[in-house]
Amino acid sequence: MEMVTYEDESEMSMVYENFRDATVRNDALKSRSGEDSNVPAAALGIKLYRLVAVTFGLLCILQVTLNICLCLALFSQRDSLTEERDELKRINSDTEARCKNVTEERDELKRINFDTEARCKNVTEERDDLERKLKTSVSQRDSLTEERDELKRILIGLGWVYFSDSIYYISSTKKTWQDSRNDCLQKGADLMIINSKEEQDFTRQSKKNVWIGLTDSETEGTWKWVDGTPLTTSYWASDEPNNSGPGNTAENCGEVMMHQLENNWNDLSCDYLKLWICELKLRP
Ligand code: BGC
Ligand code: CA
Repeated sequence: MEMVTYEDESEMSMVYENFRDATVRNDALKSRSGEDSNVPAAALGIKLYRLVAVTFGLLCILQVTLNICLCLALFSQRDSLTEERDELKRINSDTEARCKNVTEERDELKRINFDTEARCKNVTEERDDLERKLKTSVSQRDSLTEERDELKRILIGLGWVYFSDSIYYISSTKKTWQDSRNDCLQKGADLMIINSKEEQDFTRQSKKNVWIGLTDSETEGTWKWVDGTPLTTSYWASDEPNNSGPGNTAENCGEVMMHQLENNWNDLSCDYLKLWICELKLRP
């Protein structure tokens, strides 16, 4: 929109000055000549003057109006820009806060991942170590199994009998309970310990009376196996143990007798000479 400039105003002043000069000159001529014939010209000049003045006034009003509109538009634009700026500031602040959270979470996850990797490495190392040990153990077990089987073959060749998880030797000569035990120990075994019904039945198959690894020499009436374990399940013959040898002598050692009966143990004087049965455990 065009505004009335300073130059326009100057032009209008000049027009006004010219008009006034003309009017003055005209008045001078009139007074000199003493004539009154120029009155319509003066009225025309005044009209023109008024027209110019009104036009100028209108232009001023228009200028002021335009200025006000422009100011209002600028104010409104400024307000909306301020609002936009504040909104952007808020968004930026929110985004920064979210970004901070995300960064913290990422760092925490990095730490967790680092720890997990370290633990995983440890576990992997332990597993590898265990695998190596297992391999060694398996190979040791295999070689021990071979050795055991070889030993079994040798012992069976020497008159031992394999049963369950043990191998047994029944003597062909007779000795006291202690000498019998010493012989077993010297063979790497001991007198037989009976701790299952199957073993008890096994002793009856030989149909021989034999010393077993049972004694109450330490405390009369408290029977123990040679490995120190107390007697729990027993197969005493009826009325045994009676601790009653000939002449009422003590009976502190156990034997298997009367193979036709399931309950066939007897207590006997340890000095008797009897066959004996050794047991070599193949598993602990
Ligand atoms: C008795 C046994 C005793 C044995 C001693 C038997 O007659 O029944 O209890 O141990 O004689 O020789
Ligand atoms: Ca007896």
